[in-house]
Amino acid sequence: MADYDPILSVRNLRTEFSGGRGDVRVLDDVSFDVGRGKIIGLVGESGSGKSMTALSLMGLVPKPQGRVNAGSILLDGTEISKLDAAGMRRIRGRDIAMVFQEPMTSLNPVRRVWEQVGEPLAIHKGLGRSAIRKRVLEMFEMVGIPEPQTRLDAYPHQLSGGLRQRAMIAMGLICEPKLLIADEPTTALDVTTQAQILRLMRDLRDRVGTSIILITHDLGIIAEMCDEVNVMYAGQMVEQANVFDLFENPSHPYTRGLLASIPRATEARVARRMPSIPGMVPNLAKLPPGCRFAPRCRDAMPTCQRPPDLETVGTGHVARCWLHAGQTALQSEATR
Ligand SMILES: Nc1ncnc2c1ncn2[C@@H]1O[C@H](COP(=O)(O)OP(=O)(O)O)[C@@H](O)[C@H]1O
Ligand SMILES: [Mg+2]
Repeated sequence: MADYDPILSVRNLRTEFSGGRGDVRVLDDVSFDVGRGKIIGLVGESGSGKSMTALSLMGLVPKPQGRVNAGSILLDGTEISKLDAAGMRRIRGRDIAMVFQEPMTSLNPVRRVWEQVGEPLAIHKGLGRSAIRKRVLEMFEMVGIPEPQTRLDAYPHQLSGGLRQRAMIAMGLICEPKLLIADEPTTALDVTTQAQILRLMRDLRDRVGTSIILITHDLGIIAEMCDEVNVMYAGQMVEQANVFDLFENPSHPYTRGLLASIPRATEARVARRMPSIPGMVPNLAKLPPGCRFAPRCRDAMPTCQRPPDLETVGTGHVARCWLHAGQTALQSEATR
């Protein structure tokens, strides 16, 4: 997955929570890159660790139970995983910003929209009210909010879900961050609005060159939006590839299961409610001894009782699966 000079480089990230019955590792040895101006997908069922990855990057893992215990996060060459709370506050909203699934919960209902959207400018750039208001208006125009002048003074509940999400994207981009993380940004929206928001994000990447991590449980969105894809399962990366290779040659049985569950457009409404892969994401406190997907895997074999490594299946394409162990073994034979 080595991108030349990526904007973000995550290596061996480990995030853990301590609770009554010991530690739970919600992220285990997570590594990936985000190339400059690229849209990188994080995909996986609910509970696979996508949001925890985002929160770990943002320094927002709930404390004191949760913490990032190992690994490195290089943002444009700067190590940010060891920063203290004050250091992270300086970066968050300025260099790395995040848009959440449900904009209503991240907006204060009793403050006017422009004041909230412009807040990063007050925090990071020390701008005065009139300069902020002017810049928010520009951002509203950029993200396609109609009649932007009249929306500035609205309260969050006076905007539709789609407009609120546009406003949140405006807020995320207002300090021109190096990286925008969008965590299920369209999941709470109707299908038409969802398509508009996705188009907006792709336009922003094309026009402004924003690097984006797009988190979704929907491989259809990945296919439409992303350059590279990271498939997560039970706190680990299980497959990483560029978007063409992932769909042409899905190599982890989990990815194949996700692909098989993409509904065709006509049956989308029904199909989306049906379970895609039998069984459930395992409880992280009681993981199976070997491959974490083995209990649900049609291709499981005795070897799967041992944990698989990420194996190379093609150029820039890896899968954490014993089915592909031969290739890496042969390569190491050759170099001996
Ligand atoms: N505050 C928390 N304390 C302990 N475990 C948590 C907490 N929040 C999330 N988790 C666990 O972390 C795992 C990953 O969750 P999450 O990253 O939210 O998944 P996703 O975003 O892929 O649906 C899940 O097993 C979830 O139960
Ligand atoms: Mg999530």
